[in-house]
Amino acid sequence: MQKIKKVKFLDLSVNDQKERLELHNVLERCLDHGQFVMGHEIENLESNLSKFVGRKHCISVSSGTDAIYLALKALNIGEGDEIITTPLSWIATANAIAMTSAEPVFCDIEKDLNIDPNSIENLITARTKAIVSVDYTGNLADYDKLQEIAKSRNLLLIQDGSQSFGSSYKGKMCGSFGLISGISHNPMKVFGGLGEIGSIYTEDDEIADRLKILRYNGTVNKEFLKYKSLNFRADALQAAFLNLRLATLPGKLKKRKKIAESYSKAFSDICEIPSETKNSKRVFYTYTIQSDERDALMRHLSENNIETKIQHPLLMSQQKPYSNCISNCPNALKIVKRILCLPIHESLDQDDVDYVIEKVREFFR
Ligand SMILES: Cc1ncc(COP(=O)(O)O)c(C=O)c1O
Repeated sequence: MQKIKKVKFLDLSVNDQKERLELHNVLERCLDHGQFVMGHEIENLESNLSKFVGRKHCISVSSGTDAIYLALKALNIGEGDEIITTPLSWIATANAIAMTSAEPVFCDIEKDLNIDPNSIENLITARTKAIVSVDYTGNLADYDKLQEIAKSRNLLLIQDGSQSFGSSYKGKMCGSFGLISGISHNPMKVFGGLGEIGSIYTEDDEIADRLKILRYNGTVNKEFLKYKSLNFRADALQAAFLNLRLATLPGKLKKRKKIAESYSKAFSDICEIPSETKNSKRVFYTYTIQSDERDALMRHLSENNIETKIQHPLLMSQQKPYSNCISNCPNALKIVKRILCLPIHESLDQDDVDYVIEKVREFFR
C-alpha cells in the first residue's frame, strides 16, 4: 500500500465539527458569565467527576503533577520520608515526591509495565511512608496486592492514575484506589482539556478539607493561613471544556479499544503486545509494544511516514537528579530498551490502522 500522508503519533487538533462548535459555545458561555476562577464550572466538574469515578470527593487542581504533589502534602509526607514508586513513568511522578523533600525509592516493574508488588517488600525501611503506584499506558496496577502490602506494612497508598482515567478494576473506576488518587487531564490524555488541569479523589473528609486549603495558598476563607502552600487552583475554562468532553469520553475509549484490538490481532505472533491486568478493563492511553528490535522497527516506521514514540527512553531512576536514589529494578532496565508506542488516537482512520499493521508486519518479515 502506498502512503503519502503522515500517520501522526498524536493529533490534538479538534477535527470533529460538532465538538468544535460545542467548545465554541462553552467559551461563549464563559465569556458571558465571566467566572474564570472557581465558581460553578469548577463545582459542576468536581461533582460530575466524583460521580463518574464513584468517590466522595473530587478536588480539581492545576495539573496532574500538582495533583500528586498535593496528595503527598495532604498526607504530611516530607523530609526524611521514603516513598516507593515505579521507575517507569513520566518524570512528574518522581518530581512530585522529591518536591515534598521526601526521597523516591524505585522498585521494579512487571512485563505489563506496572509496578511489581513483589519487588516492594525488600525496599521497605523504617523511613518508608508510602507507595505511589502508576497505572502505566492505561492499564491498572494490581491493586489487590498493593492494598494488601500497604495494609500489612502500615504504608499509605497513593494512585497516580494520570494515564488510565476511564479504566476499572473489579468494577471500581480509576481514581478510586489508595487513600488519594491524582489524575492528569492535560491535552495529551484521553480525557484532557485544552490546557493544563488535574483532579484528585478521596473518600476521607479531613483529607479533602486539607487538599482544598493546600490548593489555595494554604488559606481558609482566603484570609487565614493554615499551611504554607502555593496556588494550585484549576482554570474554570478548562473545567468547562472537560465537563463537555466527559460525554464524549466513552466513544473515544471505544475507538481506541477497536484500534488496539486490530493491532493486537495482527501483532501477537511478532512482538509483545499490551496486556490487561486480571479482573480489570483497561483503556489505551498508549499502545505500547515490546521488541528487542525496537530501534530498527522505529526507523523502519519513520522511513514509511509513521510517527512512533518511546515513552519513556529513560527510567526516572536513570535521570541524573535521581541517579543516587535507592533503586532495584533489573526488569525495568531491560524493558525500557524494548518499549515503543504506536499511533493510537481518535483521528486515525481504518486506512491508517491497516497501513501501520502492514508496515509493522513487513518489518518482522
Ligand atoms: C503518569 C503521569 N503522572 C503525572 C503526569 C503529570 O501530569 P501533568 O502533565 O498534568 O502535570 C503525567 C503526565 O503526562 C503522567 O503521565
